[in-house]
Amino acid sequence: MRSLLAVVLAACVLAQAFAAPATQEEPRVRRNMIRGRPRGGMKKTPPMSTVSHLINFDSVVSSTFTQTLDHFDSSNGKTFQQRYYHNNQWYKDGGPAFLMLGGEGPESSYWVSYPGLEITNLAAKQNAWVFDIEHRFYGETKPTSDMSVSNLKYLSSAQAIEDAAAFITAMKIKYPMLANAKWVTFGGSYSGALAAWTRAKHPELVYAAVGSSGPVQAEVDFKEYLEVVQNSITRNSTACADSVTQGFNLVASLLKTADGRKQLKSAFHLCQDIKLDDKSLKYFWETVYSPYMEVVQYSGDAAGAFATQLTISHAICRYHLNSGSTTIQKMKQVNDYFNLVNDYFGCNDIDYNGFINFMKDTSFGEAQSDRAWVWQTCTEFGYYQSTASATAGPWFGGVANLPAQYYIDECTAIYGAAYNTQEVQNAVDYTNQYYGGRDNLNTDRILLPNGDIDPWHALGKLNSNNTNIVPVVINGTAHCADMYGASSLDSIYLTNARQKIANVLAGWLNA
Ligand SMILES: *[C@@H]1O[C@H](CO)[C@@H](O)[C@H](O)[C@H]1NC(C)=O
Ligand SMILES: *[C@@H]1O[C@H](CO)[C@@H](O)[C@H](O)[C@H]1NC(C)=O
Ligand SMILES: *[C@@H]1O[C@H](CO)[C@@H](O)[C@H](O)[C@H]1NC(C)=O
Repeated sequence: MRSLLAVVLAACVLAQAFAAPATQEEPRVRRNMIRGRPRGGMKKTPPMSTVSHLINFDSVVSSTFTQTLDHFDSSNGKTFQQRYYHNNQWYKDGGPAFLMLGGEGPESSYWVSYPGLEITNLAAKQNAWVFDIEHRFYGETKPTSDMSVSNLKYLSSAQAIEDAAAFITAMKIKYPMLANAKWVTFGGSYSGALAAWTRAKHPELVYAAVGSSGPVQAEVDFKEYLEVVQNSITRNSTACADSVTQGFNLVASLLKTADGRKQLKSAFHLCQDIKLDDKSLKYFWETVYSPYMEVVQYSGDAAGAFATQLTISHAICRYHLNSGSTTIQKMKQVNDYFNLVNDYFGCNDIDYNGFINFMKDTSFGEAQSDRAWVWQTCTEFGYYQSTASATAGPWFGGVANLPAQYYIDECTAIYGAAYNTQEVQNAVDYTNQYYGGRDNLNTDRILLPNGDIDPWHALGKLNSNNTNIVPVVINGTAHCADMYGASSLDSIYLTNARQKIANVLAGWLNA
């Protein structure tokens, strides 16, 4: 009796499962990188649940700090709550304080607590107290009631640097043993640049900086990005690179016919038909490029799936070198595998207007980090990954596929007419003047690690005549690779680079 009932019940569940989807739309996934920022932010962190058993939570503190809204207008008395974390488990009397700067995403206790990271290894070695502040407008650090343009005016790297300065000043008072400590700023990607700039702007508070993969040069048309993507794939395998460029060029030719567009819709599992207006086509290209960009940017990083799964050879060349598949099948496989490993379930959404509307949401909602980061690119950095390169453009299927102007037009569409071509250029020029860019960083005691397969390294500082500005160019590694802990997969170049960073920092701290 019992087992019969179970069979009947199971059958009902099955029948329901088969009946329901006919009326239900497939979930739509907006998984494109946004100006080089993947979902979740540019420094990859594994889910806390996968590392938390290794963390000593007894010494980790999560708190908030009352921060000044506008550091450049003393008549504005407004404040907000800034999230931060700290951990003194490695601190010993007289030790330094390490401050991880949050960037374009939410922070967690990961960087102050997980024992297998560069910063925490260095903390153990140097007896340091470790802090991490969340960047204004990201995560839980919401300085204003919403993200309307008039409020986003308080979102800038210059304000974030003053946040860090105010924070250090306050912690020196709150923890008197740190009053005379040497403070070192750390960061990765955008916050790697911030770490260096904070040292430059506040030498009285910040003794040294380690800024990993920091794009310290702002640039409107960042055409070198895709050049590095091309070169990094080519470095791994020229045959693979030949197949990838064949793929992008095939996509370009398929776009020209109705039948070709149908094939592309199916291969890339698109939610919508491909529309032929200018913006829709460019948004489509972003969707095609994104998995290749993201895999190259993080290939081999000891950060979750990028260590062994989403690598150039495994996620791209494994398919592109498979002689049993047609070119379009290879691209489909790369796309499907990327979505699978990232747990992107559904069809790829290529609705340009839908994206703009998503980005216009001024609440601290789903678009929060994207809206904040794109704002910073429109008003400070550019960093627009275009196909304008004479070498990479044709390799990616056409120099006109994705121009910087497309991204600038998005600034206008999202934030208003004031954010136009001239204003973006002025903003980028101002940023390079304010911080000195790559060639005039007016500071010292900064370490600047960069991986040379990381597309962002093209805006990093790779050479220096100042013995106290120390670029560390790491052969064959990707974005922020040095920030993670040692792994058995590390190349000798990465191991040596971490050693050099540790030695140089030790030299400065013990001077
Ligand atoms: C390509 O990448 C794979 C995996 O990362 C690596 O084992 C292989 O040595 C690379 N090939 C070259 C030529 O760099
Ligand atoms: C270093 O100095 C040389 C000689 O003056 C100059 O050509 C070069 O551009 C400088 N490099 C940097 C990164 O400043
Ligand atoms: C970078 O690494 C590759 C692969 O191990 C090696 O062939 C090459 O010589 C290295 N380049 C430098 C400058 O060390």
